[in-house]
Amino acid sequence: HDLSGFNTLGLPCRAERFVAPSSAAQLTEALALAEFERRAPLLLGGGSNVILPASLSGLVIQPAMSDWWLEERGTEVLAHVDAGVVWHDLVMALARRGLWGVENLALIPGHCGAAPIQNIGAYGVELHEVLEAVRVISLEDGRETTMTPDECAFGYRDSIFKRELAGRVAITGLVLRLSRHAEPRLAYGDLSRRVSAHPTPQEVAEAVSAVRREKLPDPARLGNAGSFFKNPVVSLGHAEALRAEYPDMPQFSQAAGVKLAAGWLIDRCGLKGWRRGHFGVHDRQALVLVHHGGGSAGELLEMATEVAERVRDTFEVVLEREPRLFGEADDAG
Ligand code: FAD
Ligand code: EPU
Repeated sequence: HDLSGFNTLGLPCRAERFVAPSSAAQLTEALALAEFERRAPLLLGGGSNVILPASLSGLVIQPAMSDWWLEERGTEVLAHVDAGVVWHDLVMALARRGLWGVENLALIPGHCGAAPIQNIGAYGVELHEVLEAVRVISLEDGRETTMTPDECAFGYRDSIFKRELAGRVAITGLVLRLSRHAEPRLAYGDLSRRVSAHPTPQEVAEAVSAVRREKLPDPARLGNAGSFFKNPVVSLGHAEALRAEYPDMPQFSQAAGVKLAAGWLIDRCGLKGWRRGHFGVHDRQALVLVHHGGGSAGELLEMATEVAERVRDTFEVVLEREPRLFGEADDAG
């Protein structure tokens, strides 16, 4: 099965076998087949945070269950959402209904089932803030459970699904907690200047989408996986030393240190717009590596290593990759 059209980087990839179950029963069947063959299946959503190798052995499962419904709970509204629902479509549908909670996460590509994996975040909001529960099915024994946000151990671009549970569960659905009361979160960047005094969630979602379109390449036109690296967190001392040398360096205090903007660091190394073979550093957002077509995962990783080395040599800061590399021995990669 050709997965070239199933990853936003547009890397060529052939999977030995591929299924897109559209019901819980079909998913269980697919899992039973993988179990019978004693090979853990790989889970794929919209392919917007993966780096695919030229070929993948075994079974790739793309959950395609795509129903969702709302439940009133006092002043709150719960959205019960299947893994295969397209995240941005859900965000816009909820915003149109006047529901607050996920509007700042508009235009993040991918499916709802993948949203908890890295606790998606943007424009001052992270998924865990509005998450009520995650439904999972064990790839080992087919048992279905509902996990609380605490059990998911969410962090910045991190969760238990990247660690202890990597390659061990399929997420089948989410429950989101939304509100009918106005709760605009406009502190990030110039968001507040882009909306009216009393915005609707739809207005905020549209403003966020507009900012994103200005900076981020549209994967339909230029292959990419969004931010290629996480924003690094350094010690207070290291941050101070960097600030002394680079007074205009953006820094954000965290509980565990100081977060730096990886895009700024790459930009400051003079790499914005740099092109090497089939890949490049995006010319409007240096944190995004782009695929001009015709390249391979290996070539992309070589380029990424070079970028990270330049940042390390200049700032003594180590960059960690954000998208997941498929077909690695270490599933959590
Ligand atoms: P995939 O790429 O298909 O999979 C990602 C990982 O999740 C893989 O490890 C996969 O095995 C696993 N997975 C997928 N589905 C399941 C499932 N049902 N059960 C278990 N495991 C599963 N991310 C942000 O956080 N914030 C942003 O602002 C942001 N902006 C982006 C902008 C662009 C242009 C692009 C291309 C990406 C951006 N991303 C961003 C990254 C990406 O969109 C998110 O990580 C998204 O949640 C990935 O969803 P997906 O369905 O494409 O997952
Ligand atoms: N910057 C530069 N040059 C660049 C890029 C950024 O100087 O080329 C500076 C900006 O001027 C700003 C700072 O770096 O001062 C941060 O930039 P931006 O607001 O664009 O956000 P980011 O930190 O680069 C993060 C997320 C994005 C998310 C945005 C908005 C990570 C790894 N990335 O990017 O998520 O959309 O914030 O919240 O945390 C993704 O994960 O794929 C992704 C796109």
